[in-house]
Amino acid sequence: MSVEHYKEWAGPIQGYTADDYLYGPEGPWPKANTLAAELPAMIKRVPKTHIDDFRTDVVSHYLRTLKSGRAKILLKMLAGDYRLQPVSDLLFVEQLFYGTLSKLLTPVSAKDVAQFPDHLSPDDLFNSEGEPKYLKIDTLSMGRLDPLPGIYSAPSLTLFKRDNHQSGTALAIKINGLLLTPEDKNAWELAKYFVLQGALCLITLVTHPRLHFPVDAISAISLTALPKEHLLFKLLAPHTRIQLAINQAVSLQPYSVAHNNQFLPYTPYPGWGNVPVIEEGRGWTGLMTDAFSGIEGNSSYPPYTYPLVPEKIWSDFDDFVRGYYKVIFDFVSAVTPHIDVDDPVVTYWSNAIAEWVTGFPAHQRIREGDTLARVLTYFIWDVTVAHSADHGAMGHYQQNIFPLRLRVPAPSSKTIPPINRAKLVTFDDTLRNRLCFKMYFGPPQGTQHLYDTWYSFGTNELDNANKKFLRELKSFDEGITCRRFIKLKDIARSINF
Ligand SMILES: [Fe+2]
Repeated sequence: MSVEHYKEWAGPIQGYTADDYLYGPEGPWPKANTLAAELPAMIKRVPKTHIDDFRTDVVSHYLRTLKSGRAKILLKMLAGDYRLQPVSDLLFVEQLFYGTLSKLLTPVSAKDVAQFPDHLSPDDLFNSEGEPKYLKIDTLSMGRLDPLPGIYSAPSLTLFKRDNHQSGTALAIKINGLLLTPEDKNAWELAKYFVLQGALCLITLVTHPRLHFPVDAISAISLTALPKEHLLFKLLAPHTRIQLAINQAVSLQPYSVAHNNQFLPYTPYPGWGNVPVIEEGRGWTGLMTDAFSGIEGNSSYPPYTYPLVPEKIWSDFDDFVRGYYKVIFDFVSAVTPHIDVDDPVVTYWSNAIAEWVTGFPAHQRIREGDTLARVLTYFIWDVTVAHSADHGAMGHYQQNIFPLRLRVPAPSSKTIPPINRAKLVTFDDTLRNRLCFKMYFGPPQGTQHLYDTWYSFGTNELDNANKKFLRELKSFDEGITCRRFIKLKDIARSINF
């Protein structure tokens, strides 16, 4: 088989008619990505109901922010809060080890020792339990951006000593050919802003998109190729709302924040996006290529492959999102015994997705052990908890220390004069940043949530499993001992932000 074989839906499986399906041949289906062929599939024929939901729930939030929200933001900024605030080393680490941004923290390996010879020794990188003693944030992908006139950005590599499960100490920053430490006072202060700029760009343009885009093909194929009364359809369909429409808008709309069209008031990024179309591999498309193809030999940029369990995060964000994964897995594991894994519907569904989503197991693999439960759990977890928690944590960051545009270059010497914060960002830079935060980053807005999802299974046993799932979600939420990155009542049922 090849992707050619699954270029369109093959039609009803034997024993079903077109009426058994929600959309029939007009249903959504994957197609090759038109920004860059190696990126996750885009979707053709996004259903009108999804586009209408997107307009009602999401575009209305954008418009509200641009009207009443903008006035509030402006008033706060006019009261003096538009300049970048000082960033102590404590605050720097606190923000980078918190929630979404902590996904950028990667264990330091022997290969990294040469970068920080004064701080690292190859035989002292892991503790007795095999956990990393040091972490790094590598914003190399910032090199994909071509900065706008008068604006600066720079890739950096930051080394942290891990103090505990949720904190560390910043030891050094490599930037612009320099190795800086806290001893290099002014240069160190300036370099921290470039790290925060890079971290916020990467999390929103590289890391978070790994939750958004690969699941489009799963949603599209599930909505089209599964009969409406099939248990698999009932389990997945509630988690597909808005996703296809929002992802299409982000990828293709000229108004998309990702394209950083400078004629719009809410586009905050430091470099040219895709408007106007620029060189291949540059701008957002280039960053997305790093997100999905990875950077060879760089552990901070692994290529994407559909995971069966959440990827490790080196902070308490891991406890939070992984804890919910277990609750979803228990529920899905109560449902999957009622699905015949050799049902031709399941065979076609899994083989079609496997052709469109890198790493998604085809039928032969999905038959093994708990693989079916794992792939379903990961999908539901990705579009609900993982996605909402990312945005929930984004809503908690101290926005006035995160520049997205900087008006001075990265330090070129270890000794530079004191920073003039009045010159780092303009009023317009901050306004774009704040509008974008409220419209796209967080806290998230939504109208349909995970905590009251009703799957309409229609049998006592499965409806009881549904009720138990909702109770277990509540009890997990009440028992959380790590930091709370989003409340259960705010976790959306599908990707909607
Ligand atoms: Fe999102």
